[in-house]
Amino acid sequence: MDTLTLIKPDDFHLHLRDGSELASVARDSARRFARAIIMPNLAPPVVSVRQALEYRRRILDCLPDNPDFNPLMTLYLTDNTPRDEVDRVAETGEVYAFKYYPAGATTHSASGVTDIGKVMPVLEYMAQRDVPLLLHGEVTDAEVDIFDREKVFIERILSPLVENINALRIVLEHVTTRDAVQFVSGASDRIAATITPHHLMLNRNAMLAEGINPHHYCLPILKRERHRQALVAAATSGNPKFFLGTDSAPHSARAKEKPPCCAGIYNACAAIELYASVFDAMDSLDTLEQFASRNGARFYGLPLNTQKISLRREEWQIPDVINFAGATLVPFRAGGSCRWKLVDEH
Ligand code: DOR
Ligand code: ZN
Repeated sequence: MDTLTLIKPDDFHLHLRDGSELASVARDSARRFARAIIMPNLAPPVVSVRQALEYRRRILDCLPDNPDFNPLMTLYLTDNTPRDEVDRVAETGEVYAFKYYPAGATTHSASGVTDIGKVMPVLEYMAQRDVPLLLHGEVTDAEVDIFDREKVFIERILSPLVENINALRIVLEHVTTRDAVQFVSGASDRIAATITPHHLMLNRNAMLAEGINPHHYCLPILKRERHRQALVAAATSGNPKFFLGTDSAPHSARAKEKPPCCAGIYNACAAIELYASVFDAMDSLDTLEQFASRNGARFYGLPLNTQKISLRREEWQIPDVINFAGATLVPFRAGGSCRWKLVDEH
């Protein structure tokens, strides 16, 4: 098979930033994806439907050549999120979910949830109104080793949450461990997970073994090879609980290379092509459309996209750098080759 035609995929986890940074990166996603769940971790964060709709307008304004791209907005959950905001999300077609960042877990998470106990009433109300919760699934306690933070989050926070509010729809975002794959696989249909291209392609050696590589630093942090293998098995399995979410998260080269390094990997300029390479290497191109274009839509109750994209088996080079609001952005696998190439839109 040398050409692959797919229902145009959706990216169920994307950071687009704002202003001229947004303008530099938005098109990379809109070429490849019909819809994307847009993360609300701007500074200050997107906490109201009104702010989300204004942000959505700014995204669309950057994409005059991609009028079909549909940004699916999310709100940033805080200790003080009011019930009214849940009502507004439930009643606004363009806003789809709340994002839970444990305070201090990652980029722009200072306004995140300090204690799950504080948001239990609002989470119960979200379950009643069937508004999904998107989780950054890592504890932040300084005494928990950074490589264990996802596993400990599942034990301490996610398992009890699922028991207590079993009607809540939850996406455990950017899973990185076998523990997460096992938890999600064994949970009810209301629990799903997204998987990034970089967690499918790299283990922690890629960040640490040949000199520290800040461009491979993201959160949750890359894990051991056996965890990567569990993610690849989950993504390629066809299991409807697992779907595509790039977590493409641009930071300037300066912000990545000057300590302390910002967490985040920019992959939007080759995302679907890289996923295709991973599925191809596993002889699983037949399940790519489920992972990329069907499973997530089903979980979110969205219609399948009517557009298609085609990929051709042809080697091309990922750019060394991308212009990022006048600064330099080093994309994932900068200067490296990719075996699948985006052909065109239909
Ligand atoms: O690596 C990451 N980058 N993980 C996150 O959770 C946030 C993201 C960002 O916004 O840069
Ligand atoms: Zn993210």
